[in-house]
Amino acid sequence: MPKVLISDKMDPNAAAIFRMRGVEVDEITGKTPEELKAIIGQYDGLAIRSSTKVTQEILDAATNLKVVGRAGIGVDNVDIPAASAKGVVVMNTPFGNSITTAEHAIALMFALARQLPEANAQTQQGLWPKNGFMGVEVTGKTLGLIGAGNIGSIVASRALGLKMKVVAFDPFLTPERAVEMGVEKVDLDTLLDRADFITLHTPLTDQTRNILSKENLAKTKKGVRIVNCARGGLVDEAALKAALDSGHVAGAALDVFESEPAKDSPLFGTPNFICTPHLGASTNEAQVNVALQVAEQMADFLVSGGVTNA
Ligand code: MLT
Repeated sequence: MPKVLISDKMDPNAAAIFRMRGVEVDEITGKTPEELKAIIGQYDGLAIRSSTKVTQEILDAATNLKVVGRAGIGVDNVDIPAASAKGVVVMNTPFGNSITTAEHAIALMFALARQLPEANAQTQQGLWPKNGFMGVEVTGKTLGLIGAGNIGSIVASRALGLKMKVVAFDPFLTPERAVEMGVEKVDLDTLLDRADFITLHTPLTDQTRNILSKENLAKTKKGVRIVNCARGGLVDEAALKAALDSGHVAGAALDVFESEPAKDSPLFGTPNFICTPHLGASTNEAQVNVALQVAEQMADFLVSGGVTNA
């Protein structure tokens, strides 16, 4: 019977599916890399979220490992070249948390537009700051999507429902798909020039790292508001801090940071900056979806060799 280790906190549906499908499963979370190295040799599969780092060292110790399943989208915490060199298949669940992450981006957009976190904090301090929080409407504003894949396209549909105009920069977006989505496909400079709000929805790659660099932030419209629920490293955090301080950027919301966990950042305390601790996928619904999906895919592979989302 194949044996799987679930090494990050995961919805219990994952373990239930593995057992139903004839896969033995241990749930052992919170191990240090050394502790994981000591036990990984017993397992055919490793199911993770974002805490476990599947490094070359872990893979070297994983003498029986055939598959790593990431309950989520990003596989940044897996050394893919090292896994491939060892013949270990790496799977993710690209759809399970898309709606949830898109909704978080929209929530942060509204939080910026109406300065909700600061207004809440001051009201609860007894200040009743009724005149201190003049916001902006999103209706009629232009949303610039950087990345128009699974999550970006859901953000676009919600934004269109809010009566925003949507322009999208995505080299993989075909003109036909842009029409179907109701967005205008543009180049990056056009997006930077026209967007009142910018949301990012791309993986972190050599092409997208610092896509909102100091230079590109300078090309944005004065008063732009920026939301990143995708990956840290897409926005140059030092340049963003300077752009917020100068007032060129009217607000920024980050769910993700260059270095996580972000327990300290020059951005903390900056007026009009809000953040959340990588909560993009954190809803009950999304966590059930990704747990079910990763367990089904991994069980398929281990029991009958079926490969999905690898
Ligand atoms: C993902 O890649 O699925 C999200 O960033 C969520 C996460 O890492 O927990």
